[in-house]
Amino acid sequence: MIQRIFSLLIVLFCALTLHAQKSKQFTPGEIWPDNKGKHINAHGGGILFYKGVYYWYGEHKIAGKIGNSAQVGVSCYSSKDLYNWKDESIALKVDEDPNSDITKGCTLERPKVIYNAKTQKFVMWFHLELKGKGYYAARSGVAVSDKPTGPFTFLKSFRPNAGYWPVNVQPYHKKPVSPDVKDSYCGGKGCLPAPVDSVNLLGRDFKGGQMARDMNLFVDEDGTAYHIYSSEENSTLHISKLTDDYLSYSGEYFRVFVGRYMEGATLFKRAGKYYIIASDCTGWAPNAARSAVADEIFGEWKELGNPAVGNESETTFRSQSTFVLQIQGKKDSYIFMGDRWTPDNPIDGRYIWLPIKFENDAPKLYWQDKWSL
Ligand code: DGJ
Repeated sequence: MIQRIFSLLIVLFCALTLHAQKSKQFTPGEIWPDNKGKHINAHGGGILFYKGVYYWYGEHKIAGKIGNSAQVGVSCYSSKDLYNWKDESIALKVDEDPNSDITKGCTLERPKVIYNAKTQKFVMWFHLELKGKGYYAARSGVAVSDKPTGPFTFLKSFRPNAGYWPVNVQPYHKKPVSPDVKDSYCGGKGCLPAPVDSVNLLGRDFKGGQMARDMNLFVDEDGTAYHIYSSEENSTLHISKLTDDYLSYSGEYFRVFVGRYMEGATLFKRAGKYYIIASDCTGWAPNAARSAVADEIFGEWKELGNPAVGNESETTFRSQSTFVLQIQGKKDSYIFMGDRWTPDNPIDGRYIWLPIKFENDAPKLYWQDKWSL
């Protein structure tokens, strides 16, 4: 008996020691335990660096297919070294009120947070689909908080740039929209005629606002913030300048990669140039990533091809881009963050973090089982 208790104690001690041990490396695709030993639950996420701490926000998933809808809200984790993360709980909770835009059961994807130094507010944007309405709402949601860990207060959800034409609008967009143009298409590739501009989706959505699905935020060196999102039935990316308080659209925006069906777009800057890493549009199934570079944020953008190299590069190592993190205080150091989605049991989704190498100024991703900064 005493021997059994003794062995149990040893097992317990080993488990606790292992758990307390600090990680010093990334292991892409593996279970990533937080400070409580639970797999990090922050999918489609992004990272904010504020006062020496990294904050990771993402979709909180639950087990089973129901977990693809928002049952809990947006998770937040904090870390000083990027390997070890503390669960900071739920930064934005879904609402029990059935009349709320973010009622439990809505679809709330790809949350991102930026800090506004003028208002001293943390501002969260996310892709919102209203409960029970599939992917047709295609709205942007905005929430704010005084603290990085929240609680965030939901402010509004809306379609971008209602009543505004993009800077690079074409004369044919302003012509009356043909009655054949449907209110909504099935979404994704294959259900829209080609070329996509033969269907004037921009004109269709001019009054009510443009569609906004997969999204990211980017703050430039001068403090100007931009929202980048898949619009026009996912066929075309829009890059929109936000207002100074980061809470709304300024009305100034550009259409980029027209008809290229890019999702999971991430925007970052290196040595004065702007870069995008994005995916193709194939639902939850992974595909070959794309990359692009520009001298100005609104373009002209030049595509650089799939940044992933080697085995499984055609599926970006079975992942889809969600964010590119620039490491503070480390020259030329960027991390590609991707999701390995598991839509049958979304809580089990894994994270693919890989260092970005630049070869002839083009981003490249090489698989690594383990790596550190
Ligand atoms: C692909 C997108 O990138 C995800 O964020 C999610 O919207 C899925 N499609 C849904 O099928």
